Amino acid sequence: MGYFINEAGAPRHTLKDPRGLATGSPTRDAIDQVESALESMLSYFGDPVAMLERASALAPSWAYPRVLLASLYMTFAERGMARLAADALAGAQDLLGSAPPRERAHAAAAQAAVEGDWASACRLWEGILVEHPTDAAALLFAHLFDFYQGDALNLKRRPQRVLPAWRPGMPLHGYVLGMHAFGLEESGHYAEAEDAGRRALDIHRRDPWAVHAVAHVLEMQGRHGEGARWLAGRHADWAIDNGFAFHNWFHAALFQLEDMDTRGALQTFDAHLATATDTALQRVDGTAVLWRLKLLGVDVGDRFRQLHAAWEAVEDADGFYAFNDVHAVLAALGASAPLPHSRAAAPAAVTQRSMAERVGLPLRHALGHYGAARYAEAARELLHVRDHAHEFGGSHAQRDLLTWTLVDAALRGDERALARHILNERVPAKRDTPLTAYWQERLQ
Ligand SMILES: [Fe+2]
Repeated sequence: MGYFINEAGAPRHTLKDPRGLATGSPTRDAIDQVESALESMLSYFGDPVAMLERASALAPSWAYPRVLLASLYMTFAERGMARLAADALAGAQDLLGSAPPRERAHAAAAQAAVEGDWASACRLWEGILVEHPTDAAALLFAHLFDFYQGDALNLKRRPQRVLPAWRPGMPLHGYVLGMHAFGLEESGHYAEAEDAGRRALDIHRRDPWAVHAVAHVLEMQGRHGEGARWLAGRHADWAIDNGFAFHNWFHAALFQLEDMDTRGALQTFDAHLATATDTALQRVDGTAVLWRLKLLGVDVGDRFRQLHAAWEAVEDADGFYAFNDVHAVLAALGASAPLPHSRAAAPAAVTQRSMAERVGLPLRHALGHYGAARYAEAARELLHVRDHAHEFGGSHAQRDLLTWTLVDAALRGDERALARHILNERVPAKRDTPLTAYWQERLQ
């Protein structure tokens, strides 16, 4: 066991985490709390905020739990949480002097994320992984910010780069396989992704991220019946008391929609998404299901009005993350409300500004045409943005919403050749699904 010299000049033994990484914690209890928090962040079971706060209470001089709390808050991708992140990080600053280099590097990455430079944050987390490939926190945060930046290459490669250092049986190893699975899926390696996801679940049956990765494979391959059974058969592993359940319910609704079971999708919305509106992540998924139902001609009653009210109830939310903002615009369109206030200028932070300028604001403009029934213009503008819309993050399955909207706008705007052209993309994976039949019928 090594040691380092603290500010008082006295040697202090370093206690290690369960993967052998040196920590700045003076107590084993606090390390145990951080380990629980890590597993909670990876599995979405339990309350990682409470666990990290307990770790800080047990070891008030240890900066790292506060740093992790900051990064955790940033993974919600909304301004209110980013403010909490900044506060948590400020509370860590004075404690970092005696922290080991790995923990100081975590603080630098969290700082970059807080400042809105998400690419630099990922580079800094990657720097940690070069030296410490079993740093599960660095991998998780980088993975989630790869997702928020639509960086499919690193969603795939980052877990690949660290996996050889993870021995089977090492604590948290299964969750790395779950991330590996999702990265492979977003890169189109469906067979490998499914295999990795199933192996992850052999280790931790209750790994909703791995359940989700396999659900994505089934979605992308048009295996919607199998997908519905996959989620239903593992309901106990992801749906109860889980912080990520709302998103797997979104996938359950997508499987229903592919089957043109619009009544079922509406029931899924009502039961699991309608009132889960506390976070932007949740509002995004609820909006996405309801918007798809609207495009399919389903009368959704006053649900959009309620959802729009939930978006509007969050003060100063607009202009933080373009992916969220576009969904807020869809909720407003669905509710026939004025489009939400959009700042004249894009946000100041480097990553978010680029996303807004390249994707968010052009989409907002296109959707404005849609709302004003200028469908041909909407279709043309959606077409221009859609193929680089991955730059504002989300998954292929989530961004498919833009394709639906484009096809619907093209059909309404009498741009039938364009609608047919885009619908051809469904052929390889989804040639015979009821949803494809629906679009084909409208084309006729
Ligand atoms: Fe997903």
